[in-house]
Order: sequence, then structure tokens, then C-alpha cells
Amino acid sequence: VKAGSGLVTFGETSSAGVPKSFADETIVVSLNDKEALQKAFEEFKDQIAAVIIEPVPANNGLLLQHKEYLQFLREICTQNGTLLIFDEVISGFRIGFEGAAGYYQIQPDIITYGKIIGGGMPVGAYGASAAIMGNVSPEGPVYQAGTLSGNPVAMGAGIAQLTELLRMGFYRDLNNKTEEFTEAIQRFATARSYIFKVFSIGSIFWFAFSDKDIRKAEDIDPASMDKFKKLHRELINRGIYLGPSGYEVGFISSAHTKIELEKAKRAIFESLDIVFRDK
Ligand SMILES: Cc1ncc(COP(=O)(O)O)c(C=O)c1O
Repeated sequence: VKAGSGLVTFGETSSAGVPKSFADETIVVSLNDKEALQKAFEEFKDQIAAVIIEPVPANNGLLLQHKEYLQFLREICTQNGTLLIFDEVISGFRIGFEGAAGYYQIQPDIITYGKIIGGGMPVGAYGASAAIMGNVSPEGPVYQAGTLSGNPVAMGAGIAQLTELLRMGFYRDLNNKTEEFTEAIQRFATARSYIFKVFSIGSIFWFAFSDKDIRKAEDIDPASMDKFKKLHRELINRGIYLGPSGYEVGFISSAHTKIELEKAKRAIFESLDIVFRDK
């Protein structure tokens, strides 16, 4: 279902094969917009089963939310008997072992995980209180299973990954490394008065060709993607590969060495000079 603007918009199907009637079961509201959510709860009183959000929205740029907004979500869901679901497929284990829920100290009712939890193997997971999980088969009526569910190789990789993350100082080192990297790039761009902002949290970062405080998808200027394309090309020419879309975030890994990050920084400095020289 397409993320959209507007106060309270019904979901629109954005993929063939998704019947409109399915999409009609969802209400799409803009991020960082309390009023829109309030209006949705008023209009559909007692009909909203769950609110789902990436607490660190990282699927369309990095749209950092105010803690206060996430707390508001928690409160309005509790007041209405609605479940709050944090999609932590990207943020999970990337901004600390407890993800965004731990970072913001907000407890959702259900959390979804993917990516890191499988240590590179194909794993998805969800977690909730014992009471909610009790609804899942065989204890409860919700049937959920798959050929590769609980696949031993993937589970082994996931356990190894999580064990590594629990090493003392793992997140301190990873987050410091990311901060040094992103701050150096921001300092460089600011010193040259480039309209360029680095957004970052934990080990996640995003480059925006903007000087705005970007908090929702509508804040991103599609025209700025031309500059990203140039940056991407210049970086490839220098042996540095960013995700191929300006709407994608980047990640620093514990495997990135100081030397590699220095090389990446230098390449980014040179490339930004070219992007802004060309105008
Ligand atoms: C934020 C977010 N949620 C959910 C998914 C889907 O996860 P999965 O492929 O495990 O179903 C993705 C996939 O990239 C994602 O980025």
C-alpha cells in the first residue's frame, strides 16, 4: 500500500495483484502529524486494530521522528485499545540491541524484525507479550508457518549474529564510528555552504540534498535526486558503492575499518565538490 499525503487517506494499491478491497482496510496518515491520526481515530472509532510504523522510518529516506510523536502514538493506541506495531526490520539491532523501542524507551505491543536478526540469512521474526503471542498456533487460532520457518541454518546464523552484538562495547564502537563518519561529512558540506544534510541515528545514515528538517516523505524534493545520481556515479568511479537510490539509507557495519571509512570520506568530499561545481 502506497504511503501517501493528505489528512486521512485510504490506502491505494501500489502493486498489481493487491485488490483495492484489501487496501481499503488500511488508513494512511502522514508521519509526524498528530492531528491526522487523531482524526482517523475519531472517524473510525473502535475499528482500528493496529497502528504500524517504522519508529525510525528508513524506507523512504531517514525520517527521524520526535520522541514525543512516538509517545503520542503509544498513548492514543492504549486509549483506544489498538495495538501499536513497531516495524523494526531496518532499525532493529542497528541503533542498539533493543532497537528503536529501547532507544526511545517506548514499548510497542508487537515488534517485527528482519535483516540483522538473521545475520545475512533470510529470517523474519515478530515478537509480543505472551498474551498476544498466545493467539498464534498451536496455542491460539492464528495460523502462521512456512517451509523455511525456523530453518536451522538461518537460526544458527542469527544466534551467532546476536551473540556478536552482545559483546561489550559493540554498539559504543559502532555508533562512535558512524558519528565520526557522518559528522566529518556534514562539517565538510557546511564549511563549503553546500545544501546537503546528513541524517543519522545509531549506525544508519542518509544523505539529503536539502537544508530542511526532513520528517516525512512529502518533505523530500524529488528534484534533489538528480544531485544524488551524480554523487552516486562519482562515488562508484572512486570505488565506493552507496545504495542506488537517494531514498535509500546507508549503514555502517562493524566490519568497516577506519581505513575504509577514511577512503569513503575522501571520495565523498571529492564527489560533493563535483556535484556542487556542476550545479
Ligand atoms: C522497514 C521494512 N519492513 C518490512 C520489510 C519486509 O521484510 P521481509 O522481507 O522480511 O518481509 C522490509 C524489507 O526490506 C523493510 O525494509
